Amino acid sequence: MSEQKTVSEFFEQDHDRLDELFKTFQQLKRSDFPKATESFKAFKFGLQRHIVWEEEVLFPLWENKTGMSDSGPTPVMRNEHRQIGQLLEAIHGKVAAQNPDSDQEEQALLDILGSHNRKEERALYPAIDQVAGTEGQDAIFQSMKSIPEERYNLSCGQH
Ligand SMILES: [Fe+2]
Ligand SMILES: [Fe+2]
Repeated sequence: MSEQKTVSEFFEQDHDRLDELFKTFQQLKRSDFPKATESFKAFKFGLQRHIVWEEEVLFPLWENKTGMSDSGPTPVMRNEHRQIGQLLEAIHGKVAAQNPDSDQEEQALLDILGSHNRKEERALYPAIDQVAGTEGQDAIFQSMKSIPEERYNLSCGQH
């Protein structure tokens, strides 16, 4: 038995970790703004990293293995990432201005992130586990590690 997580397991756990950070931000933003800001920063950084991992490692592998790049799930997922990035920036703007009144943007982000993550967890990640195989999954984790931090510190809301 391998100790290595599958791609599905790893990315699902990252979704859960990010969900918790965002929940903490929401719970604290009207009582302890500095602490809420810390959670939001960790959330934003982590979500940007997650999206870069998907777009630069997972999706290209899927597209190469299946020959589906213009059709199939990845263009939809990339498009949703852009919408997620815009909402992330909108909330970030308010957090930076120490304004807690971002409930509407937060709800919009939760709505799109919820359905986006479900689609990935139910369909795309298991399919990637399958097409990659065990060795392919090792290569995925190696590639993820080799991406420099600057890529996801800057990437949100662009493309
Ligand atoms: Fe995604
Ligand atoms: Fe994801």
